[in-house]
Order: sequence, then C-alpha cells, then structure tokens
Amino acid sequence: MPNVVIVGTQWGDEGKGKIVDLLTEQAQVVVRYQGGNNAGHTLVVGGEKFIFHLIPSGILHPGTICCIGNGVVLDPEVFLSEIDRLRSRGQKVGPENLRVSERTQVIMPYHQRLDLARERAKGAGKIGTTGRGIGPCYEDKVARRGVRVADLVEPKLLRAKLEEILPEKNFLLEKFLGDQPFTLEEILEPYQELGQRLKPLVANVSVILQQAAQAGNNLLFEGAQGTHLDIDHGTYPFVTSSNPVAGGAATGSGIGPGALHRVLGIVKAYTTRVGSGPFPTECLDGVGTHLQECGVEFGSTTGRPRRCGWLDLVVIHEAARLNGLTGLVITKLDVLTGLNPVRLCVA
Ligand code: IMP
Repeated sequence: MPNVVIVGTQWGDEGKGKIVDLLTEQAQVVVRYQGGNNAGHTLVVGGEKFIFHLIPSGILHPGTICCIGNGVVLDPEVFLSEIDRLRSRGQKVGPENLRVSERTQVIMPYHQRLDLARERAKGAGKIGTTGRGIGPCYEDKVARRGVRVADLVEPKLLRAKLEEILPEKNFLLEKFLGDQPFTLEEILEPYQELGQRLKPLVANVSVILQQAAQAGNNLLFEGAQGTHLDIDHGTYPFVTSSNPVAGGAATGSGIGPGALHRVLGIVKAYTTRVGSGPFPTECLDGVGTHLQECGVEFGSTTGRPRRCGWLDLVVIHEAARLNGLTGLVITKLDVLTGLNPVRLCVA
C-alpha cells in the first residue's frame, strides 16, 4: 500500500473512522495531523464499542504505531483518560504504539473557557463550536504564545509560560467576557502532573515518520473534520481553526508532500453539518428527519443533532480539487433506502 491521506469531503462526519480502521490493517503507522477532541468516532470491534476523540483507532491493531502530529491541538486530560480507558479494557498503550510530537499545541483550561464565553457573547451569530477550546488554542499557536507539549513536560518552563500568559487570559475572561479568571496554582499543579504522565510518549514525530517511510512502512494520515470546515478553504467563518485538507497532512505531521502518495476522499451519500453556516441542500422537512433518524446523525462529541440534506456534488467537486483526490469512498448509502426520488445537487 502507498502512503494514504484520508480526508472528509464535506463538513465532517463522513465516516472516516471506519475507512481508517479498514486501511489500518495494511498500514504500520497512523497519524493524526490536525484538529483535536472536537473530532470523535465510534468503533465497534469484536462487539465492543470504543469512542475516540484523539487517539487514532489504529491503536486497536497490534503492531500499529499511532502518532499525534504537530498540527493537532491536544487536551492532555482527554488524551490521558482515553489511554486509561483503553488500558482498563486490556489494550496495550505505551511508547511502543503511541507517540506525541513535542511540537503539538496543548489545549489549556483557559482555551475552553474562552471558547464557551465567546460563543455565549456572540449569541445568535455564534459559530456553534464544539466548545472544546480548539479555536483559542490555534489562535495562541499563531500568536506565538501557545503551550507546546515540550513546555508541558518541563515543570519550570510551564510555570514561566503560564506566568506570562495568564494575566492576559484573565483580563479577557474577567473584563471583556464577564467570566471567571484562573489562578496560576489551579492550572500549574494538575498540568505539571499531566505533563509527567505524557512524557514517556513524547517524540520527534517528523523523524519517526521519515524513518518509518524509509524502512518501507505504509503510513496512513487520518484527517479530522472535513474540507469545507477548513480554515482557509471552508465556509469561513463557519469553519474549524485547522487545515483538514490533504495539504495539512504534510505541515501537520512534518513530512514532505511527496510522501503523500494517495488522497482518499470520504463522501457520505447525503450531507450533514453540525453548527452554523451555509448548507444549500439542507432539508428541513421529512427527508431531513429520515436522514437524521436512519443515519443516526447525532454528534459523537457533543451529541447535537446534525443538520441533514441531499448530497451536494458541487461541494464534492470542490473537495476533489482542493485535496487532489485520487479516489473516493461513499459511505452510508443504505440510509437512502426508502427515499424516492433521491436528489443530488449538481449546480
Ligand atoms: P470547533 O472546531 O469546535 O471550533 O467548531 C467549529 C465548527 O466546526 C463548528 O461548526 C463545529 O460544529 C464544527 N466541527 C468541529 N469538529 C467537527 C467534527 O468532527 N465533525 C463535524 N463538525 C465539526
């Protein structure tokens, strides 16, 4: 198998996890390259249900190495609790099969509070974020004041960073958004502890990928969200804050674009969207209800009902161009059973 990037061609929730899981049998390394615990997928393996927000589902395959790339925003509490849950169910998780880039940005408690407070302040104009602190964390990355995994695992560095960052965050929270501020102590101690638990998994993922590729291994890049939620190419401003498009796999993992041999676009046989923003083929009638109920269209992260509508081929055509798709996978065709006629948007 060549190295493959899996991307969502719509607004996320196309069923990428299932395809990643199928292809993982032929891949030795699976990489997350953007997004954070705004994503989520449910897998049923051998009758057991697993829900993942951060750890690639490849972790269930013996011998597969899962990597969290630098382009991801990592909530260490969520990540470590996913590891704990896997271990309590007898899965082996450790440095031999899970690595985190030292350059990955860390979602801190003030990111989540800012995300929620900003959405509240926007009222009807809200983006409908997942409230996980994704946007504020990427903002800090670009503003060059983010906490990276490399800072989190060094107690002194973490203290110095927080001493610098917190006054500004507290000013925003208290004076601008009317929310609660944080004390240094309430973040520092628990996050130093999380850092120490994370430390054994920290690595230079870029080098690991290069070495794995040179040794003839197959790499699988697992996109989160979808093309039209891309910060650059999506339906801005109703987008997420990262680059789900295939190009993001290179920047978000530290591998050259030439190593991305194939790009597989995942298309759901109809369209869904969570949160606000344009949706030309949305069905607010019985068709929408049929798709939502038969397709079980409820967010795996927030449980919100997804907006539903017909397949929009203009959206897929755009995704083919933006990602340089070399193949398509169509999912959930069975959900259309019973609908007559089945409509497609072509212009
Ligand atoms: P954020 O990523 O939490 O900032 O949310 C921004 C927008 O992206 C909102 O409309 C979310 O509903 C949407 N979004 C984020 N992650 C996902 C996902 O995994 N599936 C579908 N929509 C998502």
